Order: sequence, then C-alpha cells, then structure tokens
Amino acid sequence: MGSEKEVLVAAAVFLVALISQSEGIIGGREAAPHSRPYMASIQAPEGETMKHECGGFAVADQWVMTAAHCLPSGPGGRKVVLGVHSLSEPEETKQTFDILELHNHPDFSPWNYDNDIALIKLDRPFNVSEAVKTAEFLRAGGANPGADAEVDTAGWGSLDNLGSRPDKLKELAVEVVSSARCRRSDYFGRKFTDNMICAHRVCPDPCGQPHRKEDSCDGDSGGPLLYNGVVVGITSNGGKKCGQMKKPGIYTIISHYTEWIDNTMALQPTAAQD
Ligand SMILES: *[C@@H]1O[C@H](CO)[C@@H](O)[C@H](O)[C@H]1NC(C)=O
Repeated sequence: MGSEKEVLVAAAVFLVALISQSEGIIGGREAAPHSRPYMASIQAPEGETMKHECGGFAVADQWVMTAAHCLPSGPGGRKVVLGVHSLSEPEETKQTFDILELHNHPDFSPWNYDNDIALIKLDRPFNVSEAVKTAEFLRAGGANPGADAEVDTAGWGSLDNLGSRPDKLKELAVEVVSSARCRRSDYFGRKFTDNMICAHRVCPDPCGQPHRKEDSCDGDSGGPLLYNGVVVGITSNGGKKCGQMKKPGIYTIISHYTEWIDNTMALQPTAAQD
C-alpha cells in the first residue's frame, strides 16, 4: 500500500522523533504544555517588547515566589506572566500582571546569595485554570531531599548548556549532591550555607562537556526545584556554570523560610474585615 511518498514521510517523522529524543537527553526536554501550571515568567521591558528574565512559581492566588537576586532593585516595570508555555506565541492561557509589591528577603546576601528568596504580590488575583494553578511548597518540618535524591527543575533558561534560550518551557531531572561535597573548596567553599541545596544533572549526559557560554542558565533563576511534586527549592546562583562537573546548581531551601513567608503574605489586607 505504502507509496514512496508515504514511506518518505514516515521516515522523516521517525527522524524528527529521534532528534527530539536525543535533544531531550542532552539538555533536559520540553515540558508537556501547561503540565507545570504554577510556572511564572518574570519579564523586563526591553524596548517595545518584554524579555523573559527569571522564573518563579505561584504559591497563592495573588503571590509568586522567586529569587531575591532576580529583582535586586525593585520591580522596574517588570511583569509576571502565568499560563505560559511558549514565550513568543500568543497563547490564550496567558495571564499578565503588574507587580503590586515586591518583598526580597531582608537578609539576602549579594555576596553568596544566602537567603535568595522573594515574594511578589500581583496586582490582582489570577484566575485558576488548567494552565494556571498554585504549587505546593515544603513547610518547616517537612522532609527535604537527601544526597542522591532525584529532583527536577523547569525553566525558560538555557537548560541545554548551549547558550541559546528556549522559547518553550523545559524541564530537567537533577540529583542532590551532599552538603559536605558542596562545601568543599573546589565546589563552593564557604559561600555554601545551610540554607542551600546543591544538585547536578543526572549522568550519563554531557557532564564532562565544556560549556560554550557561562551565563547560559541565568533565565532559570527563581524557578522551582521539586521533590515528589512538591517545591522544595528556588533556583539560585549555581546555574551560571551549569553543566560543569564541579559547579552544580544551587537552590534556596524553602522550608527554612516558612515564618517569613507566612508573615509576608499575611501583610495582605483581608477584605471584608472590620
Ligand atoms: C479573570 O476572568 C475575568 C472574567 O473573565 C476577567 O475579567 C479578568 O480580567 C480575569 N483576570 C485575570 C487576572 O486575567
């Protein structure tokens, strides 16, 4: 039955499938559209357009969590977009917000990125949909992943280590590295604190490969690190040297900030209370 043309088409489809498969192995893979409905894209004005700068994740109907180093000197005209899969395409699921309040952790250290956590209050609550929902995050007393645990992260930064920014959300499995190792002088030394988890990509993969561009993973900052579907960390500074054997990513341990999170979000004036 199969004409030559059909065979060719089948071969082409097979090839494309193969190629996207191998891309997935090299550099994380494209997430299923809206399979991570808590993901936020924080965008800064650049000329006439908005440019993706950092990730974040929705934690309540008017709140997005991110990293403090993402907005060090205030909102600066940035917007938060929820319901995104493709940054460039006009998706019906997108909801765009101005930043009403920015709360960077008061003890954030620009030297070693300790306490790299921030909360953004959106200008209005989001509409819950299949594409926009809050994430569950770990609170004090919850179990953080130990060394060698498999965790995962997602973002629009260059997870592939090649320097090009993806348009569509990508996800990547990583493995927690023991704190003792992260504290070694050939890793992060004294810059590594008890508020941090470090994790590197699961091998085999391009672990030993040279990377082309040192800042290639910046766009992932502020995004979530998940353990069994619960957010346990915020992507902090380690991504800058992503792919380097001795420079795993560093993530802020969210469960250390439960009180600060509760206090900050409680600042929200409760409607109909008099
Ligand atoms: C939520 O939906 C209502 C009704 O469709 C709309 O007026 C409002 O602008 C939406 N809110 C957001 C955050 O998009």
